[in-house]
Amino acid sequence: MEPRPIAITLLGATGAVGRAVLEVLEDLDVPVGRVRLLATARSAGRDIEFRGGPLKVEAPGAEAFTGCDVAILAAGAEASRQWAPLARAAGCLVVDDSSAFRREAGVPLVVPEVNGAALDGGATLVANPDPMAIALALALNPLHAAAGLARVVVATYQAVSGAGHRGVEQLQREAADLMNGREPAEPGRIRHRIAFNLVPQVGALGADGVAEEEAVIARETRQLLGLPGLAISATAVRVPVFYGHAAAVHAGFDRPIDAEAARQVLRRAPAVKLIDRPEEGVYPMPMLAVNDDAVLVGRVRADAALVNGLALFLTVDNLRKGGPTNLVQLALAMVERRRRG
Ligand SMILES: NC(=O)c1ccc[n+]([C@@H]2O[C@H](COP(=O)([O-])OP(=O)(O)OC[C@H]3O[C@@H](n4cnc5c(N)ncnc54)[C@H](OP(=O)(O)O)[C@@H]3O)[C@@H](O)[C@H]2O)c1
Repeated sequence: MEPRPIAITLLGATGAVGRAVLEVLEDLDVPVGRVRLLATARSAGRDIEFRGGPLKVEAPGAEAFTGCDVAILAAGAEASRQWAPLARAAGCLVVDDSSAFRREAGVPLVVPEVNGAALDGGATLVANPDPMAIALALALNPLHAAAGLARVVVATYQAVSGAGHRGVEQLQREAADLMNGREPAEPGRIRHRIAFNLVPQVGALGADGVAEEEAVIARETRQLLGLPGLAISATAVRVPVFYGHAAAVHAGFDRPIDAEAARQVLRRAPAVKLIDRPEEGVYPMPMLAVNDDAVLVGRVRADAALVNGLALFLTVDNLRKGGPTNLVQLALAMVERRRRG
């Protein structure tokens, strides 16, 4: 029997995440019915290609959610706070990619391969985690099952597309200016020049000196792994890479686990690809992660600075499994659960 098509409303359709969601729907051959694309009034009337034909972008209004099975919200927290209640009132399930509801009781934060059972409660609003938390949870969850995770220290290398299409444009503009001997214009979306530079701040700094992204990585990784007391600290760095986040991960375990045992575990882990032949120069790099729906993990080795320590390096496409792919998987899982009743 043909699967029943799913009616989708996508808020933020002209953005980095929104466009990637449309690509994922095409690539995964999702049986979509009516698709409505929403962005600001500035973008209303523009055409976006989907499955070989143009679709008109509309400005959001309550009627855009009528008859929709699921709304994917990827337009920032303010827009989510405005439109999620209206979407739900119209009977539409909601998957939200912003920070608006991530800390609200009754709103599960879910990576299907890690804590998919959190959807069983029948939540009608689900939050998509931060891309780095998704990647860390996918790589660490199977290692935790094998040896008991005790502590994590992580340094991230985050692509400019994580700051949306304006982040991408900033790096393009600055790189072109510098290569042509021109002084780059004032930085835009990212606070400092990012071309040929590193910026060790992602998000606003808290009073404790921890940047917002660092706090989010720690909180959401604990939440996804179901380990509220996990000792974890992060340093998040914006790097001049267009697509694909990466992280150097140092983890300590309750029980001994050597590098080969860890590789065996990671080979079998869902949504993880072990790429680990360093002697041949084969290891995860952002350029290899682009358009991949898995987290790439490699450079697995003992970490002598930690008790039962392991070090590894991972990369994830922030515009695939780091966000849009997970959003689409959550949308499909929620619709399926509702239809099953
Ligand atoms: N990029 C990533 O790697 C990533 C990862 C995880 C989560 N996220 C989250 O995903 C969301 C979107 O991020 P992005 O990177 O795609 O940003 P983006 O490239 O700047 O795109 C933002 C999108 O939202 C639309 N929009 C903004 N305000 C709106 C409003 N009030 N009403 C309707 N539409 C509105 C924009 O429309 P116009 O084009 O008309 O301005 C655009 O389509 C954010 O919540 C972000 O935190 C992003």
